[in-house]
Amino acid sequence: KRVILSGIQPTGTPHLGNYFGALTNWVHMQNTAGPEDVMLYAVVGWHALTLPQNPDALRAARNDMLAVLLAIGLDPKKSIIFHQDHNQDHTELSWILSCMTSMGHLLRMTTWKSRFADSKNMQAHASIDEGAMNAGLLTYPVLMAADILTYNATHVPVGDDQTQHLELARDIAERFNKTYGHVFTLPGIIKTSSQRILSLRDPTAKMSKSAPNAASRILLTDTYDQIKAKIRAAVTDSLPGITYDPVGRPGAANLLTILGACTGESPEVAAQRYEGKNFGALKSDLLETLNETLKVPRAEFEKIKADQAYLEGVAKDGARRAREYSSPMLQTVRKAVGLA
Ligand code: TYM
Repeated sequence: KRVILSGIQPTGTPHLGNYFGALTNWVHMQNTAGPEDVMLYAVVGWHALTLPQNPDALRAARNDMLAVLLAIGLDPKKSIIFHQDHNQDHTELSWILSCMTSMGHLLRMTTWKSRFADSKNMQAHASIDEGAMNAGLLTYPVLMAADILTYNATHVPVGDDQTQHLELARDIAERFNKTYGHVFTLPGIIKTSSQRILSLRDPTAKMSKSAPNAASRILLTDTYDQIKAKIRAAVTDSLPGITYDPVGRPGAANLLTILGACTGESPEVAAQRYEGKNFGALKSDLLETLNETLKVPRAEFEKIKADQAYLEGVAKDGARRAREYSSPMLQTVRKAVGLA
């Protein structure tokens, strides 16, 4: 029996990185699951609070994210789809686990280090106050570990940027088991073949929701014309022909990765079709293929979003089913540490 769990932050519409790095795999795992398998997919609102959020915007994004998950093909009859903040077991476990996690380990996390470097930079330019480096940014990976371990998840489908967080979760689970006896299963990471999609404007950085330039990412809800403008402006190079060379030609490689993710080919195989061609040909094929891929989710999203009662029902039912799995687990943990 597999327990598959993953999460996504409601900080805006998902982009191609989220989609091809993780979400397509959520659907794939759901659709290839055996009758014994349990799938849990969470919209992680608590994680979003580590960065400043406008309450109204967060409320809307949290709701939209649930609609996106349904629009891409997650089925509430098969998967447990829920809001993290509807299950308080995550926060209780997070506290217990934080008391078993060393500060040193958290300070070594690359996400923390890069946020810290950013904030130091901004402080130097006097555009941010010290309060922006909140404690939640540091303990964020412990909450993520709790999300996973609350259900004793065995498989965690995530993109490349979450690998270090997952290693921490395994580490915490191991330490807990050593101290209190075997309670947690060590979770394994599940990756897609296109686990890292890069920014269209700067192919040395990952595609991200927070990059200031909106043309650096294509959103799942982008229209044909929006996709067209972003692909046309995507950074490439001036070498002749097209080859897949992630180190020497990262912009070209990224476009091939995205094309391959749509067609189910490896980027190397996709590249063979463009050997003697130019970027114009690759970009126009990519536009049509991507638009075809996003057509159904885009339309489904609008349809589902219009039915708020349905969304509320899915969230409520998801939270109830999630708690059915987490409650006995929390009871075991409380007993193990001497609190029950
Ligand atoms: P988040 O919301 O940043 O991203 C959601 C998923 O998208 C993947 N991803 C990418 N994959 C490839 N290329 C990219 N450019 C790219 N950008 C994002 C992420 O790897 C992720 O899988 N900490 C998590 C959310 C979380 C979680 C969890 C995940 C909270 N609790 C428990 C798994 C299990 C995050 O911030 O993802």
